[in-house]
Amino acid sequence: MKTFHIALIPGDGIGPEVVAQGVKVFKAIEKMDDSVSFTFEEFPWGCEYYLQHGKMMDEDGMEQLKQFDAIYLGAVGYPGVPDHISLRELLIKIRRGFDQYVNLRPVTLLHRKLTPLKNKTEKDIDMLVIRENSEGEYAGAGEWLFKGKPEEVVLQTGVFSRKGTERIIRYAYEEARRTNRTLTSISKGNALNYSMVFWDQVFEEVGREFPDVNTYSYLVDAASLYFVEQPERFEVVVTSNLFGDIVTDIGAAITGGMGLATGANINPEKTYPSMFEPVHGSAPDIAGKGIANPLAAIWSVSQMLDFFGLEEWGKRVFCTIKEIINHEEHLTPDLGGKASTEEVGDYFVNLLMQTK
Ligand code: NAI
Ligand code: MG
Repeated sequence: MKTFHIALIPGDGIGPEVVAQGVKVFKAIEKMDDSVSFTFEEFPWGCEYYLQHGKMMDEDGMEQLKQFDAIYLGAVGYPGVPDHISLRELLIKIRRGFDQYVNLRPVTLLHRKLTPLKNKTEKDIDMLVIRENSEGEYAGAGEWLFKGKPEEVVLQTGVFSRKGTERIIRYAYEEARRTNRTLTSISKGNALNYSMVFWDQVFEEVGREFPDVNTYSYLVDAASLYFVEQPERFEVVVTSNLFGDIVTDIGAAITGGMGLATGANINPEKTYPSMFEPVHGSAPDIAGKGIANPLAAIWSVSQMLDFFGLEEWGKRVFCTIKEIINHEEHLTPDLGGKASTEEVGDYFVNLLMQTK
C-alpha cells in the first residue's frame, strides 16, 4: 500500500470551505482503492494567524512542511493584512523555498456553455500553460531611492538566470514531446531588450534538442489577442512569471471563471514538496456564505494525483469534473446553479463513485 502525506494549509476566506471538499475526494478514493492511502496534517497559517501571532507561519514552518509529499493550499489574503505580506510571507516563501519553479495551469474548456467566446468549443480551448515560477519579473529585485522626495526613483528588475530560464523551457519542451503537442513561447523581445531577447534565444537553443517538437513564438500582446480570438492556436505554452500570471487569468476568463481555474507549483526533482492550489483568492465578498465553487480546488486534487503517479485517479477526478458540469442543479451560483459548496462536494463524491 502506498501512503501519501499531505500538508493542508486551508488559509483564509473561502480557502477552508473549498479545501474541505477536496479532502472528501481523497477520502473517497481511499475507500475505493485498497492500494493507496492519504494522511493529512492541517496547519492554521494565514492572515488570521498573522493577526494573532504577527507572522503568517511558524518560524520553522518550512522545516515542518519539508517532510510532506505535497501541500494542498486553499487561499491566503484578507482585508486588514496587506496583500504583499500575505503573499510574500507564505505563498511566495513556499514557492521559492521549495524551488517550485514550474507553475502548471491547465486552460481547458470543460463545456461550451462555460465560455463567453462565440463559436468556440471544447476542442478549441485545451492548453497547458507552463509559467516560470521562481524568478523573472517577480524576483523581488529592485530599489526605491529618494522615497517621498521629488527626485524619487523606483527600479523593479527582472531576473532571468540561464539556469532558471533553461530549466523551465526544457520542462516545457519535454511536456510537449511527451504529449505530442505543439509548444508556444510567449515573450516580448521587441521591447524588453535584455530579458526577453535572452528568453527567445534560450527557447531556440534548447529547441535544438527537440527537433520533433513544433514551436511558435508570440509577443505577449499578440498572444493575449489570440487567447481570445483564436485559442485553438495554443497547446503547450511556456512563459515568464508575469506574463504567465496575466495570460492565465485570460485563460480563466475564457473557460468559466475563477471557480474553475487551478494551478500546481511543482518542484520536478521532488527534492521538496510541491504545492497544489486553486488559482482564486480568498474571495472575501462570498466567504462564509457557503457558495464558493469547490471545483477549482477539486481540480487541484486531480493534478496532485497525477503528480503522485496515480494518473488513473487523476483522470477519473478530471472526468468527473467534466461530468458534474452537465448537472446544473448541483453547481454553485457562479456556474448558474443553486447548490452550496458542501452540496457540490458531496454530489461530486457520489458521481466519482459511479464513474469508471
Ligand atoms: P479572488 O479570486 O479572491 O476573487 C475574485 C472574484 O472571484 C470575487 O468576486 C470572488 O467572489 C470570485 N471567486 C473567486 N473564487 C471563487 C470561487 N471558488 N467560487 C465562486 N466565486 C469565486 O480575488 P481578489 O478578490 O482579488 O482577492 C481576494 C484576496 O485573496 C486578496 O487578499 C488577495 O491577495 C488574495 N489572493 C490570494 C491568492 C492565493 O492565495 N493564491 C490568489 C489571488 C488572490
Ligand atoms: Mg494571479
